Amino acid sequence: MININAKILDGKAIAAERRQTVKQQIQARLAQGLRPPGLAVILVGDDSASQVYVRHKRHACAEVGMISKSFNLPNNTSQEKLLALLEQLNEDNDIDGILVQLPLPAPIDSESIIERIVPHKDVDGFHPHNMGRLAVRMPLLRPCTPKGVMTLLAHTGIDLKGLDAVIIGESNIVGRPMALELLATYCTITVCHHHTQNIMAKIQNADIVIAAVGKAGLIPGDWIKPGAIVIDVGINRLSDGRLVGDVDFATASQRASWITPVPGGVGPMTVASLLENTLQATELSMPSEKKSDF
Ligand code: GUN
Repeated sequence: MININAKILDGKAIAAERRQTVKQQIQARLAQGLRPPGLAVILVGDDSASQVYVRHKRHACAEVGMISKSFNLPNNTSQEKLLALLEQLNEDNDIDGILVQLPLPAPIDSESIIERIVPHKDVDGFHPHNMGRLAVRMPLLRPCTPKGVMTLLAHTGIDLKGLDAVIIGESNIVGRPMALELLATYCTITVCHHHTQNIMAKIQNADIVIAAVGKAGLIPGDWIKPGAIVIDVGINRLSDGRLVGDVDFATASQRASWITPVPGGVGPMTVASLLENTLQATELSMPSEKKSDF
């Protein structure tokens, strides 16, 4: 029996509320005679985790009344073919958002792919334009997972200013934009990566721990400072089929003040942020607004 002292940040419930709000906003658009938002979701190859994530994203679109257009491309899709598809979607007035699920199979160069998406349709917020806007505190389309984490942190009601935040993982998808988000709220940020020395000491000092590596058991619970907020972005499948995060939940939840479960923490928030971003992108594309054909 686990003795949990921490309050649970219930991403599943909070994401359901956010999806409901998006759904109502879409219904209001339709009532005004405007078309529903359109999202193109591109999956290249047969990575099983990516297939699951993409399925969740497409399902969530349908649930809130968005149109999602699916592109499932084979593993051997050429870079040129993918770039040509993006050009076509960039020009398509019924498509407000374009999502290319990552990672892309080799030898496709992800950076050139992301750069080809017009920034106002970049609902992942990964284009250098959108990352740069976040860096200079003029955010427009914000990367989905860090945005979802900020929504969860807002739910704690805790003033984040001046808190020490430690992020483990430096990816373009989570770690780096997460650092920019937390810096914008005046946390003091440490980003840990392969070359970081003494990660344990850094975590032991942290008021907020964000784990985004994808390695089960990476962070033992007794490293967590009593009262810290623990956000676990990792999703790892164990050999017995169970899904766990990067932090040992059983022990960390006895020390933290707030903690996210895995599953049911950050994962659903990423999808909710994607829907919010797609609606936002639709509103950014007002010049191409037209009455519904559906
Ligand atoms: N792969 C892992 N997370 C994400 C994400 O948020 N967006 C995309 N496009 N790919 C991912």
